[in-house]
Amino acid sequence: YGTSSTNEAGHLTIGGVDTIELAKKYGTPLYVYDVALIRERARGFKETFEELGVTSQVAYASKAFSSIAMIQIIEEEGLSLDVVSGGELYTAIQAGFNPEKIHFHGNNKSREEIEMALDYGIGCFVVDNFYELDLLTGICRERGAKTSILLRVTPGIEAHTHDYILTGQEDSKFGFDLQNGQAEKALKTALNNQELEVLGLHCHIGSQIFETTGFKKAAQKMIQKLSLWNKEYKFTSRVLNLGGGFGIRYTKEDTPIPPSAYVKDIISEVKALMSEESLAMPEIWIEPGRSLVGDAGTTLYSVGSSKDVPDIRKYLAVDGGMSDNIRPALYDARYEAVIANRPEAEAEETVSIAGKCCESGDMLIWDLPIAKAEAGDILAVFCTGAYGYAMANNYNRITRPAVVFVEDGSAKIVVKRETFEDLIRHDLPLYAHR
Ligand code: LLP
Repeated sequence: YGTSSTNEAGHLTIGGVDTIELAKKYGTPLYVYDVALIRERARGFKETFEELGVTSQVAYASKAFSSIAMIQIIEEEGLSLDVVSGGELYTAIQAGFNPEKIHFHGNNKSREEIEMALDYGIGCFVVDNFYELDLLTGICRERGAKTSILLRVTPGIEAHTHDYILTGQEDSKFGFDLQNGQAEKALKTALNNQELEVLGLHCHIGSQIFETTGFKKAAQKMIQKLSLWNKEYKFTSRVLNLGGGFGIRYTKEDTPIPPSAYVKDIISEVKALMSEESLAMPEIWIEPGRSLVGDAGTTLYSVGSSKDVPDIRKYLAVDGGMSDNIRPALYDARYEAVIANRPEAEAEETVSIAGKCCESGDMLIWDLPIAKAEAGDILAVFCTGAYGYAMANNYNRITRPAVVFVEDGSAKIVVKRETFEDLIRHDLPLYAHR
């Protein structure tokens, strides 16, 4: 995985830094990000578009992991940014991100969020529904402002992934339905409102997708409509945003294609379809989240208690769990792990890694073949960089971990570990302290 390796002490290193030293210095659980790998992924996407000679924007879907330092890396690498809430927008602005490269998503943006985004002068709103279309137009009118939008459409595609992360199918809470006339109605409304500049269409069909068929089918459905709307309304889509969703390899069973291969295959289809319809090639925007940061993140835990259920299973508990990574409990997500203080040791037993939350479902990995582990060992769980820290929570009043960035042999803390004081920061007593 990325720049991970083993040093003379026999310890797992990431970005040239000894993970055992990291665990000692910053405590566990600890999120460790391999910055070189994030940069490599970012450049991979950008260079692929450059090679193909296609004007593009690669927007990092910051829901995968948003923090000031993370956004700074994205800015440094010249990507755009997808935000889905006032909080993500605020983080981006605090990181000094250029607002013009921010795209604002979400199926229920509030008036406050829209006003905030207009105040900052963001690049565009990805309008999801008629309520938002009205609200945004009204707010722009009040301010005498104009703004750029994309219309998010649901193309009616079923991508092959977990039901909870499917988004392109007809029965979805997101977007204007492309098939039943909703999207066309939205376009007509938007074209008639001079406050709105319609840049084009957006779709996102789902997440952790391993093949390009779904993307190509979605593009096909959108381009068919664009051709009709070009004749009917003289509408030219300057932008076609195909969303994110490129899958990554969490375990040996996962077989995604490399990010550049997704892009190449999808673009060649888009080029062919556009020329069939005699339409000019639009800018292609994409929104990868997981494929930019997923495999760059590793979580370090300390091993604590264990329990044998004779003839059935051995449980090995770590000092985190669903509070720092809810994905196994929520989606049955699978991970691989090693003992970081001896990553090369042969697997001697099969254990199931339990979290410390008061829930039987708080299991991180079932049936993991691993070297014999005991209390005090450090367990490294790989590929936790996307939707790990981002979905961390305080269940059982467990404090959220710290996040460290490593690169070229040095480590920098970028999110501090929460403290007990943080946990009660917003609590107000009912009675004076007795
Ligand atoms: N664009 C839109 C409009 C999205 O809804 C998403 C993800 C993305 C881009 C980025 O997708 P990615 O490249 O990361 O697959 N919590 C779930 C994933 C939810 C994804 C939600 N939307 C998980 O942990 O698997």
